[in-house]
Amino acid sequence: MTVTGFPTNPYKGTRDFYPEDLIKRDYIFDTWRQTLVELGFSQYETSLLENADIYIAKSGSELGGSQLYNFKDKGDRFVALRPEQTPSLARLVAARYKQLRFPLRWFSIPNCFRYERPQKGRLREHWQLNVDILGLEAGAAELELINVLASVYKAFGVDKNHFKLMYNHRRLLDDWLEDYDLTAHKELVYRVLDDWFKKSLDENISELRSPATRGNETDNSNSNEVGIADNDQIQALIELTSQTGPAFDKYLHLSQNYPEIDLLQKLTPKLHPTLEFELNPCIIRGIAYYTGFVVEAFDKHPGNPRALNGGGRYDNLMEIFDAPPTPAIGFGMGDVTMLSFLENWGLLEGCEQFENWALLRQPIRVGLLPKTPANLEKIYLDIIPNLRNLGKTWEIDYDYHRSPNKRYESMKKKGCAEVIEIF
Ligand code: HAM
Repeated sequence: MTVTGFPTNPYKGTRDFYPEDLIKRDYIFDTWRQTLVELGFSQYETSLLENADIYIAKSGSELGGSQLYNFKDKGDRFVALRPEQTPSLARLVAARYKQLRFPLRWFSIPNCFRYERPQKGRLREHWQLNVDILGLEAGAAELELINVLASVYKAFGVDKNHFKLMYNHRRLLDDWLEDYDLTAHKELVYRVLDDWFKKSLDENISELRSPATRGNETDNSNSNEVGIADNDQIQALIELTSQTGPAFDKYLHLSQNYPEIDLLQKLTPKLHPTLEFELNPCIIRGIAYYTGFVVEAFDKHPGNPRALNGGGRYDNLMEIFDAPPTPAIGFGMGDVTMLSFLENWGLLEGCEQFENWALLRQPIRVGLLPKTPANLEKIYLDIIPNLRNLGKTWEIDYDYHRSPNKRYESMKKKGCAEVIEIF
């Protein structure tokens, strides 16, 4: 029986890359790779398939729950398509812990799968530059990480007109919550702050006062959560999030207990004058394993409201592989948001940097028009080796029966810079 009628579209939330799409994606990957190699980072790779339990244990209820692609294999193993790279990195490092020379500066560009509702900036498959530094103490590591982020954006011709980098510190926020007697509401505050920019002030306040019971597929709220009734506490949270008033001043005061924040505040404006860099209490990050410093970047273009990158410090992740506690910090930067970012700001097509790269990637193509099949011998024996020596590529036109003019035009349309008739 012949089976027909299969749809030609890709699986929901994934993309096909036609050659012209790959040119853009490769530009992003090559720019990432080149910058990281220049900064002394080494590339590594792992399999797309991982033990599903490591995400359940460490990635939190979204990545390790509602968004996890998982299945039982034929050997009854519980397997996942990786939703992120960080737990695989921790596994690699733990496996060779004694042989490795710390600090490690590693990067990778994996594809990740998340069972999300596909929408602008969010797909079910995306590629993610992952940059991580392991074995370097707080302070120096944060400074290096910001230097990497600044260098990556600079390599794309991006500056503070296009995006801003915002950072925070989870332990600092915890100190502040304790000061305002809000520790009991930590989960609620974390969740509302994490979504702060996506909602109006009124919506955020009403969520803080009476957390809604929600039940969609990515929901991780606790339906029994108790809201914040005290008006002074709500007022403090408003001040904190709007970065004005005594409650925010208190936050800045408490931040002095964290030398890594002090170091960043002192040095970043000097080292990266074209970077907008701000301490923002609303940067929380959804992933469960972050232990301190957290960072995200936001596109200033209204057409791309998603985070361009996200990361932070995760000092306890290695423990699931029985490795000693190891200071670790890193970030992930997605290709979907990066592509919209560059396109929206006109930093791709028409941009000299990109055009130059594309020219290097696509050597001059020469169209060869043999008169008859007998000319193929000469083409393969003489002409092609010569073209290869010159660093050029070729395309042979086999439509012997068409007029030379038509054959010439068709080669030009295929992008051949030169066309040669072969007799
Ligand atoms: P993340 O914030 O979940 O962090 O992802 C990092 C970046 O990947 C996001 O800022 C976004 O650009 C992109 N991204 C994430 N999910 C999607 C999606 N569904 N569609 C398109 N793009 C997406 C992590 O994954 C951490 N493991 C990063 C990290 C590395 N932390 C420390 N080291």
